[in-house]
Amino acid sequence: MQKTQLRQEHFSDSPFPVQVLCETDSTNNALKRMRHAPHGTVLVTGRQTDGRGRLGRRFSSPEGGVYLSVLLRPDVPASELLHLTPMAAVAMRRAVFDCCGIAPDIKWTNDLVWQGRKLGGILTELVQQDGYPCVIIGVGINCNNDMAALPPEVREIAVSLRLITGREIDPNALALHMVRQLAAMDAALMVQKAKWMAEYAGACITVGKQVQVISGTQRRAALAEGIDENGGLIVRWENGETAVVSTGEVSVRGMYGYI
Ligand code: BTN
Repeated sequence: MQKTQLRQEHFSDSPFPVQVLCETDSTNNALKRMRHAPHGTVLVTGRQTDGRGRLGRRFSSPEGGVYLSVLLRPDVPASELLHLTPMAAVAMRRAVFDCCGIAPDIKWTNDLVWQGRKLGGILTELVQQDGYPCVIIGVGINCNNDMAALPPEVREIAVSLRLITGREIDPNALALHMVRQLAAMDAALMVQKAKWMAEYAGACITVGKQVQVISGTQRRAALAEGIDENGGLIVRWENGETAVVSTGEVSVRGMYGYI
């Protein structure tokens, strides 16, 4: 059956300017090429040929997904923006709820998860321009994906909105909710941080779990005890000492798998 396509006319009353692309290598890359794009510029597509994930990984982006990036130019230094990616995860959780009536969990730092399976991911990239940060937040959500089109290692842990809800989801509606929530996040960024971060901590299923903290080739077992005010993961190592693990080069796995 022909899937509903993303179409430009659905975004006329969007809070941010949206450009729909038939296909691109990566919406994050495409935004980086638009060096002088204004604050709030959004690109969205239904297929990426070179989608990128965190830690230099590939992000498989077949038809059926919604792949969206927004460019923000916050007027604060990058050091004050550590909470931006966790807030984006909250925004995307809210967007899924607004569109489909389900609120996914968040796996630290920024995977959207439903019943232990990955529904979406977020890649935030920082480009300094004239001393001020230019941030590109890219989100990929499995909307109506045919699971067979995903590589086996991704398929094993993935889920789509269509699988969860049992119905085809309009990607235009989902993308518009994503843009609205990203605009709300932008407005709240420096003034409602504590409220959004409390929502993040409440939705983060990593807290309370035994995890492995992975940095390069090193793995270290810990208990995830909480989330700090910037979205850092508070862990207790096996020797009893505690530490805050920040995003960036570190990822976290459950002791026995993805969660
Ligand atoms: C992850 O799970 O590792 C993050 C995935 C982020 C994927 C999105 S899709 C839109 C944007 N363009 C990309 O190439 N990546 C991000």
